[in-house]
Amino acid sequence: MGQEESHLASAAGPPATLEERSLEAVADYIKSGNARRIVVLTGAGISTAAGIPDFRSPKTGLYSNLARLKLPYAEAVFDISYFRNHPEPFYVLAQELYPGKFHPTISHAFIALLAEKGLLQMLFTQNIDCLERAAGVPADKIVEAHGSFATQRCIECRVEFPDAEMRAHVTRGDVPKCNECKGLVKPDITFFGEALPRDFSEKSHNTAMADLVLIIGTSLTVYPFASLPEMARKGIPRVLFNMEKVGSLGSRLDDVLELGACDDGIRKLAELLGWTDELDDTWRNIVGNEDAEKQLRSQTVRDEEIEDELQKLTGEIETVLKLEEEEEKKEEKKDADEEKSQKKLSRQRMSTQSKKRK
Ligand code: OAD
Repeated sequence: MGQEESHLASAAGPPATLEERSLEAVADYIKSGNARRIVVLTGAGISTAAGIPDFRSPKTGLYSNLARLKLPYAEAVFDISYFRNHPEPFYVLAQELYPGKFHPTISHAFIALLAEKGLLQMLFTQNIDCLERAAGVPADKIVEAHGSFATQRCIECRVEFPDAEMRAHVTRGDVPKCNECKGLVKPDITFFGEALPRDFSEKSHNTAMADLVLIIGTSLTVYPFASLPEMARKGIPRVLFNMEKVGSLGSRLDDVLELGACDDGIRKLAELLGWTDELDDTWRNIVGNEDAEKQLRSQTVRDEEIEDELQKLTGEIETVLKLEEEEEKKEEKKDADEEKSQKKLSRQRMSTQSKKRK
């Protein structure tokens, strides 16, 4: 897994498949029955309304907040080589992000509705929050491209670690060690420096089979996931629901950009399809009215909550980094003291030997 620059471009000319480059035309295309294999690609932005921070938003993103810490670079918390020597910062995050605390958004519910209507070809998600499953998207329609918290194993001997023990460790916020070899245990999340799950390469051809691609809440900066929209055939409409323009979206004649909060864009599409009540019922049945109302509060209020949470998290990670630094200093001092006393001892031995000779 790695990162590359994305290129922004704009298409000129009339679309090949859609009547026009608008959400109305996308809805008409679905209603016409010509979009029966819809592929959905999602990233962290689909879950921010649920209270989970994304990675790269300037104020409310995890990496932007971690940038002020003494980490080699912000993404290091998800880097396998860093994890080998410093697993603690990841486990501080895991305590916060472990599935069970958050509820699906209306955009997640929309994907479940597509599946229910037999229109979902495949969902590819970069998220590890398992909210697609919680929304009721069938497991065989989900590709968790960056893995998930569902299973975990030792990074040395690869033996699986029991779920209940894992949950207990994560709840306490401590680092689990393998019951067999005492190696570090890590959830089966794809870290930087690791290969994506086999499921990803085995199923990515579904994007080339799609007759409509919906891209929701991702900066499309992490490859190979970011190359999926390019696999859509020419003339296949690609619709971006995102705060900002990303990747090459907008460069093709049938690209539609619905910029803004994805839940708003998805609601608008549902309304154009005549699915508003059905979508709202599906969503409220999953999350309950209380959480639904919580998610419906203003963006500013939700952003403030995420900022507070991130400040707390960053503070906790800073503490474990300081503790680690102190431990390292203690170790270094211990080594230096040992070396000193060894030298002193050998000097004493030498002087006793020379005295004896005299
Ligand atoms: P990013 O944080 O890079 O991008 C999230 C995108 O969603 C940004 O373009 C935001 O503007 C947008 N966004 C945020 N909230 C939104 C909302 N309510 N509605 C619409 N758009 C919104 O997250 P990803 O693209 O998912 O990997 O990041 C990809 C990978 O980078 C992650 O899977 C993660 C990370 O390193 C691992 O941790 C393994």
